[in-house]
Amino acid sequence: MVDLKSQYEKIKNTVNASIQEVLDTTTYINGPLVHEFQKNLEQYLDVKHVIPCANGTDALQIAMMGLDLKPGDEVITADFTFAATVEVIALLQLTPVLVDVDLVNMNISIEAIKKAITPKTKAIVPVHLFGRAANMEAIMRIANEHNLYVIEDNAQAIGANCKFSDGTKKKAGTIGHVASTSFFPSKNLGCYGDGGAIFTNDDELAHKIRGIVNHGMYVRYHHDVVGVNSRLDSIQAGVLNAKLPLLDEYGKARQDAARKYSAAFEGHQHIVAPTICDICDCHVFHQYTLRITNGKRDQLMEHLQSKQIPCAIYYPIPLHSQKAYVDSRYKEEDFPVTNQLVKEVISLPMHTELDNEQIKYITDSVIEFFK
Ligand SMILES: Cc1ncc(COP(=O)(O)O)c(C=O)c1O
Repeated sequence: MVDLKSQYEKIKNTVNASIQEVLDTTTYINGPLVHEFQKNLEQYLDVKHVIPCANGTDALQIAMMGLDLKPGDEVITADFTFAATVEVIALLQLTPVLVDVDLVNMNISIEAIKKAITPKTKAIVPVHLFGRAANMEAIMRIANEHNLYVIEDNAQAIGANCKFSDGTKKKAGTIGHVASTSFFPSKNLGCYGDGGAIFTNDDELAHKIRGIVNHGMYVRYHHDVVGVNSRLDSIQAGVLNAKLPLLDEYGKARQDAARKYSAAFEGHQHIVAPTICDICDCHVFHQYTLRITNGKRDQLMEHLQSKQIPCAIYYPIPLHSQKAYVDSRYKEEDFPVTNQLVKEVISLPMHTELDNEQIKYITDSVIEFFK
């Protein structure tokens, strides 16, 4: 699904030099490269505070800890996404409220959010799924009306823009009260191990979170709040410093590949391809995900595998049906879109190194299946 080796070959000298610097200076933890990366990312995102941490799941958890949510507070999030989002809500003894998503952009449904709000609702966690920014304008409007926090899960969409009706654009992850991201190797900005970060424009919240990531300490050996140990390694920060200047170029390469895929599938009776907006960069294609509408998604997957084409189902089971998260509060009829998507979606290889020959082989093979 990804080709990290070819990508590494092109940036090998910079990455190797960064790693060597850490080895030479023995600044393994919280070294200057971590600080440099934090500043570089703040500048790239145009956000006041980036707080690096150990992975994207920790980032979500720490963001929620920073907001002082209390056990039993309801947190609304999407039913169709990776489990990390609902996992941390449950771990913090908050009450997850899973809601349906939109069929076209596969992000949290605005109507479903509105329907799910109760007096106990305290926060909304939109996930910018597959690299496409959720409708943050509508989400912030609802949050402001109901006095709710918004925590953006930006693990899959770093670099994507959110566009507002007055024509302005902001980077996904800089609009809500706080946001999280993941630097897992296959992510659009991936390191060579685990990594993550929290973003916020709120000075007080940033200060609080800086303590939480470090055992709740603001002064050495003074533990003012319950914290965790969640740090980005200096070696990973070195890798990220090498890759961050290329993030927009990487995004363009993904969008180019997506454009070619979608052109090949245009007008196909049984394939719904993602739309590509040429103006606002609202989709950075962490995944390129089709919907197969004739009920033969699984057979297509077998066909592609027989031709050595990697493909994947993100995600095969709705979160509301996962054993860990089943709840009598949920009714199947509240999740028509998620229930449809889990049967129809298939993701094709998507990365920065796809060439025309590979794309043609993949698209020809998909189309051949329906003949
Ligand atoms: C939407 C989403 N949120 C959170 C995470 C968790 O990130 P990590 O694997 O770095 O903990 C992921 C990782 O796949 C993700 O896709």
